[in-house]
Amino acid sequence: MALLTILHDPDPRLRIKAKPVTVFDARLRTLIDDMFDTMYDAPGVGLAATQVAVPLRVAVMDCGNEETGAQKLVLVNPEILDPADKQEMEEGCLSVPDYKDKVQRFNRLRLKALDADGKPYELEAEGLLAQAIQHEIDHLDGKLYIDLLSPLKRERFKKKRLKAEKRGD
Ligand code: NI
Repeated sequence: MALLTILHDPDPRLRIKAKPVTVFDARLRTLIDDMFDTMYDAPGVGLAATQVAVPLRVAVMDCGNEETGAQKLVLVNPEILDPADKQEMEEGCLSVPDYKDKVQRFNRLRLKALDADGKPYELEAEGLLAQAIQHEIDHLDGKLYIDLLSPLKRERFKKKRLKAEKRGD
């Protein structure tokens, strides 16, 4: 088990557009295992390789709960198909600590991706899972959910961050 360091906004490495994975080897599997360890330790429901300073299109996710149990999901080179039903959802991010806000996300979509072995799969997602998929793919494109906030909310976020910096957190 290895824990990776999660980058925090405004680290410029969070703004790098990640490159597609072309090699499915032991190194990729180790990265994915370490990303799961790091995500569960945080704890969070999703983590993109961009957040641990690896500019590859890889994300891990677990939107399971007590009822469903663990629902580990590996997304390599993911794509969103047929997004539908846009609505406001509350969101947070391990790279933006101590802040949550509402953003517009699609409530339903189809995910097309590869697994850790490079095998293609598709799944239907809705609710939290659909939201997490959009959030993680944004990370792979160098975007953060705070980019989606209205100018007023962004101001509020910046003020809060400035205060936290002054406190030295
Ligand atoms: Ni995030």
